[in-house]
Amino acid sequence: MDRIRIKGGVALNGTIPISGAKNAALPLMAASLLTGEALTLSNLPHLVDISTMVQLLAELGVEVSMNGMTGGGHTGRVLTLTAGEPETATAPYDLVRKMRASVLVMGPLLARWGEARVSLPGGCAIGTRPIDLHLDAFKALGAEIELEEGYVYAKAPKGLKGAKILFPFVSVGATENAMMAACLADGETIIANAAREPEITDLANCLVAMGAEIDGIGTGTLAIRGKKALHAAHHTVIADRIETGTYAVAAAITGGDVTLANTQFELFGAVGDILLKTGATVEKTDAGVRIRRDTGPVKGADVMTEPYPGFPTDMQAQIMALLAVSNGASMITETIFENRFMHVPELCRMGADINVHGASAIVRGVKKLSGAQTMATDLRASVSLVLAGLAAKGDTIVNRVYHLDRGYERVEEKLAACGARVERLQD
Ligand code: EPZ
Repeated sequence: MDRIRIKGGVALNGTIPISGAKNAALPLMAASLLTGEALTLSNLPHLVDISTMVQLLAELGVEVSMNGMTGGGHTGRVLTLTAGEPETATAPYDLVRKMRASVLVMGPLLARWGEARVSLPGGCAIGTRPIDLHLDAFKALGAEIELEEGYVYAKAPKGLKGAKILFPFVSVGATENAMMAACLADGETIIANAAREPEITDLANCLVAMGAEIDGIGTGTLAIRGKKALHAAHHTVIADRIETGTYAVAAAITGGDVTLANTQFELFGAVGDILLKTGATVEKTDAGVRIRRDTGPVKGADVMTEPYPGFPTDMQAQIMALLAVSNGASMITETIFENRFMHVPELCRMGADINVHGASAIVRGVKKLSGAQTMATDLRASVSLVLAGLAAKGDTIVNRVYHLDRGYERVEEKLAACGARVERLQD
């Protein structure tokens, strides 16, 4: 099982190319099921989760061809996906268990073929992660739902009917599934209290390119007028705002000066605001976004995770690593997932002073962390240990680095290119 070793203490300097967004790419790939024509996606990241989605779609009758690299000097992959008639409309347990985003094939399968059978994803390290909001949306659109032998079976033999869907709270995946299903429903669907993450906007823009009719894109209320069929399109995946934020923290925590390329300043949002509060500078340049913290200490800041445009929960573990070496105290409150502090005990083993009280963690900054053997538990927790290792004294080993490979492309290469002493140890 691969491990990563980091020798801390080097201030990062240089340029890091940002890849396409994993959490945009996965629903975009599922959207290929909505048409029998070719959907070509550019700037896809090279990640384990993308390969898992390719495997799942192939099982569902989608022909996938890889067209090599995207232009522009970065290594985004180009895939063309053409969905034929599936032999099966089932997303099997062994794939869904590996990647919960498999549930995103439900809406498209139900809308196009009138049925979908997906293994219940089960919980994961950060929470129980139910899919009740997804199923409620499908029921509102006229589907019948049955649960049997750990699978959820949705069917709509007469097709889906447009409806008003009001989500009791914001859900990214449920919004994506409902939006895709509504594109082929008969009539108009209104989705109220919809998630507004940039990845939702990216999916909506791609669906419109495929012939869907969607109003309110980027707002909390979407109006979708269903079509008989969607058609071929070519879409470029947006830059990964969480990868952008992660490497911005790498620059800030090491006191470095890093330019993040192929990403947009506008994707920074609430993460940029907090980085400024901690004493980093964030500036838009022709090459992308430049992050510096080469003068002055890291300052404490209070953070609360919220749906977009609030501070993203996927950046909570990373900002905690930075605040762990601040010259003050910080309060971090996690409002999205019930168990997303697994990185805390590992950071404390590196000398951090963090106390968790329910959904909040009090972080009292320490002068220096010390390197240690650490264990990754989930995708974002594992990268926060890498970030802490970059600033720590001595060597840090991050075990179970397969978590990292699900969401970060070539992390050790990208960091080493800016001077970090980081290497992958193959067992
Ligand atoms: C997406 O997960 C992302 N994954 C997550 O990123 C991200 O943390 C999350 O949105 C929040 O931004 C992908 O896009 C593939 P939710 P999703 O539905 O859609 C509860 C990463 O690290 N809920 O917005 O599953 C849920 O348990 C991953 O890249 C229900 O109760 O998140 C959570 O507490 C981790 N019932 C809250 O809502 C439902 O039917 C928000 O979940 C659905 C969700």
